[in-house]
Amino acid sequence: MTASRREILIAGLGAMAVAAIARPTVARAAAPFVQPPLPFAEKDLEPTISARTVGLHYGKHHKGYFDKLNDLVKGSEYETMSLEEVVRASAKREKDRKIFNNAAQAWNHNVYWDVLKPGGPQKPEGVLAEAIEESFGGFDGLKAQILATSDGVFGTGWVWLTKDSNGKLVLRGYQDADNPMAGGKPAILGIDVWEHAYYLDYENRRAQHVAALVDKAINWAVVAERIKA
Ligand SMILES: [Fe+2]
Repeated sequence: MTASRREILIAGLGAMAVAAIARPTVARAAAPFVQPPLPFAEKDLEPTISARTVGLHYGKHHKGYFDKLNDLVKGSEYETMSLEEVVRASAKREKDRKIFNNAAQAWNHNVYWDVLKPGGPQKPEGVLAEAIEESFGGFDGLKAQILATSDGVFGTGWVWLTKDSNGKLVLRGYQDADNPMAGGKPAILGIDVWEHAYYLDYENRRAQHVAALVDKAINWAVVAERIKA
């Protein structure tokens, strides 16, 4: 496939999904930043992820990032920015590392819950499947690279599906709260590999958790829409 054909494919991916699903619920208002509602019931990801893990992850960890962020930005220039703008601006300033960490984690989890929203196809379809074939040699290749990238994240972090400078889909591991959006790149699919995402259900078996999530919990229609966005 030529690069232009691939770009057309990727550019067109959202069109097939946009009619079927709602836009991602990513907060865009200025402070106070509001945690979006969980777009499904806590039990809806069982048995891949337990209701207890989802409840703690959303209700304690994700909520905590919003609470800390709102405290940290009071009286600062960040108060008037969107959440995405806070992430991008604070990423460049070492003195604002706490603001970046909490803003990025708030945003990362908005994406995470949206991509795990039940009801979509459990395998990539149509032009998304073709783009994955082009970039990873198919779904099995994508899954293998997700697992390898996850294994390469030391300690806490994320696996993100993004695009390289030629528009080709690529996977990258990011430490802690970091994500491609902070550097101006598409953050299409984020897989949380912090222990709080899986330890209650899988103990230290991160790879087992990530494999189950890729096989059973990702809404590939949301992923297709996010490629367009
Ligand atoms: Fe998390």
